[in-house]
Amino acid sequence: MSGRIKVKYLITGSGGLLGSAFSRVMADRGMEYKSLEKSDLDVTDRYATRHCIHVESPDVLFHCAAFTNVDMAESERSTAFAVNADGSKNVAKACKQVGARMVYFSTDYVFDGTKRSPYSTHDQPNPLSAYGESKLTGENAVVASGVDVLLIRTSWLYGTVGKNFVRTVIQRAREGRALQLIDDQTGSPTWAEHIAELTLDLVSHHASGTYHITNSGEATWYDLGREALSISGLHSEIEPISTEAWAAPARRPYYSVLDASKVEVFLGRKMTPWREALKEFIKGMDR
Ligand SMILES: NC(=O)c1ccc[n+]([C@@H]2O[C@H](COP(=O)([O-])OP(=O)(O)OC[C@H]3O[C@@H](n4cnc5c(N)ncnc54)[C@H](OP(=O)(O)O)[C@@H]3O)[C@@H](O)[C@H]2O)c1
Repeated sequence: MSGRIKVKYLITGSGGLLGSAFSRVMADRGMEYKSLEKSDLDVTDRYATRHCIHVESPDVLFHCAAFTNVDMAESERSTAFAVNADGSKNVAKACKQVGARMVYFSTDYVFDGTKRSPYSTHDQPNPLSAYGESKLTGENAVVASGVDVLLIRTSWLYGTVGKNFVRTVIQRAREGRALQLIDDQTGSPTWAEHIAELTLDLVSHHASGTYHITNSGEATWYDLGREALSISGLHSEIEPISTEAWAAPARRPYYSVLDASKVEVFLGRKMTPWREALKEFIKGMDR
């Protein structure tokens, strides 16, 4: 029998893009974990959340459950807040009661995009959208609960599961459809698996507080779409379009690159450039 103490890991929202990336990376690392899909635990149900977290009694909980449809959050504001703010508070309180560490994921959309240099963890959030507001309210509620929290802001995620920009662009190009891609919003595209990897490394080094984690470098949606098609060997007509012409219901920051230097210093390694990460992801897609 090994003398190592087993750490119990729990994932909420495990059916989503980031939650499923955690499951894959933890399985690859031979870690034991329990994943909870929305049908297993609805975090807006305070009693169910408390009961579930008490029964599971994890050491670390990765809170990946969230309402993430940025445009829909404008018309379904109360649902976005119920999940992202109140639901996160339910999880935080239950984690505090059982002495679990909570990892809360947040977004570049807590910033207003008026800066022209990467946002550090010291910059003041000022969300432009209901989604951004609900995520920031969630951040504040989790911190106020007094739980031992690792708060990670990330941006422009793509990965194997769910509807995400990179998969959608490739799918449309394969169907021979023309594309219109926004060319005046700048951010850092990030592979969800890299977030899972780096978060697990932070947790194993007992990091707490707020960190920004993204792949490095910056791009517009147009740059990202072009690169994804070029790596995939696909050709499709891409028309650059402005934010104004696209006219989405939710306002988004024009510039939301996050400064990941704090995590680079803490872990002693550089973030992977977004083009490299994208190439690795796309090469693995058809495997
Ligand atoms: N995707 C991005 O570009 C991005 C960027 C920055 C930050 N983030 C943050 O990263 C985290 C993970 O996002 P993601 O991209 O993985 O989102 P996602 O793919 O939409 O996954 C979220 C998961 O949460 C589930 N969920 C929704 N409401 C729930 C509830 N009341 N109780 C329990 N589960 C619920 C969803 O289930 P259903 O699908 O069945 O509703 C889904 O499986 C979020 O905190 C998000 O704000 C994401």
